[in-house]
Amino acid sequence: MQSWIPLTPERASTFSWSVDALYFYLSGVTLFFTLLISGVLIFFVIRYRRRTPYEIPRPIAGSHKLETLWTVIPFLIAMTMFAWGARVYFDQYKPPENAMEVYVVAKQWMWKLQHATGQREINELHVPVGRKIKLIMTTEDVIHDFFVPAFRTKADVVPGRYVTIWFEATKTGRYHLLCAEYCGMNHSGMTGSVIVMEPREFDDWLSGNTNNMTPATAGQQLFQTLGCASCHGANGEGGRGPTLAGIFGNMAQLQNGQSVRVDEGYIRESIINPQAKLVVGFGPIMPTFQGQVSEDQLVQLIAYIKSLHTTGETTPTRAPNPSPTVQPGASPTRNIK
Ligand code: CUA
Repeated sequence: MQSWIPLTPERASTFSWSVDALYFYLSGVTLFFTLLISGVLIFFVIRYRRRTPYEIPRPIAGSHKLETLWTVIPFLIAMTMFAWGARVYFDQYKPPENAMEVYVVAKQWMWKLQHATGQREINELHVPVGRKIKLIMTTEDVIHDFFVPAFRTKADVVPGRYVTIWFEATKTGRYHLLCAEYCGMNHSGMTGSVIVMEPREFDDWLSGNTNNMTPATAGQQLFQTLGCASCHGANGEGGRGPTLAGIFGNMAQLQNGQSVRVDEGYIRESIINPQAKLVVGFGPIMPTFQGQVSEDQLVQLIAYIKSLHTTGETTPTRAPNPSPTVQPGASPTRNIK
């Protein structure tokens, strides 16, 4: 279904109108001044043309009043664009707290997605309508760009860090997912679909795809096999290394007197480059895991550490099969998403 002005893609998210309104405003202002300046130009060319071959124009002194006017007016107009644009930008790039999380790993040339409940998808993303979805994205190789035109969702996916963006679909249907950053030979083929379903249909879809371990459970296993537990404790309670349980989302005090918010990016950095931001009271004893853990595994470890955080809270992410993958030795106080 096309919009009534066939200039924009279909609108299927809560952001669609705010992005389009800004776009129309920019286009409108541009069009207005293009017409105004062209019109005045043509008028002046005719009105002040040279009428005789020897005509000499009257000398004109500058006008401060005019110059001030044509500086202040464009400045004010530019500031409205800045303020409006910033507002739309911050809305999109500041995910709400209660969003459903989906991990996205891009690679040449596909999108790998995983739900917090474990379901994996390639080049397809199933989401329920009317629910806030937060994407935590990274890439295994070069820069890609996650672009869903119908949602007006577009963000570069950059190697070595996490990019988060969110959206809320307003209409069921199947929408294009594109890579919008040239990433090599098959860039144009790096496409997929976002399938927006009624919540009940989505629940059915989720429960029909329960073969996978949740990222948190996979992360818990990695936590043991990589030996993290020997310093951070079997359940992240701490030891020779800092406590991990409950740190997610909090501020960590660093040795250099600064503090840092414990988010996905900080945990990732601490695994890859442990000495970058040492927690106060701990020495530089942790080895780097650069090259030993894949992007998928990093995501799992982070999901595990986040799950330690959620102890005692109700998580917004629904688990369709309550505990098929909980490990035998799992602590009863831990709540795996
Ligand atoms: Cu990935 Cu272009």
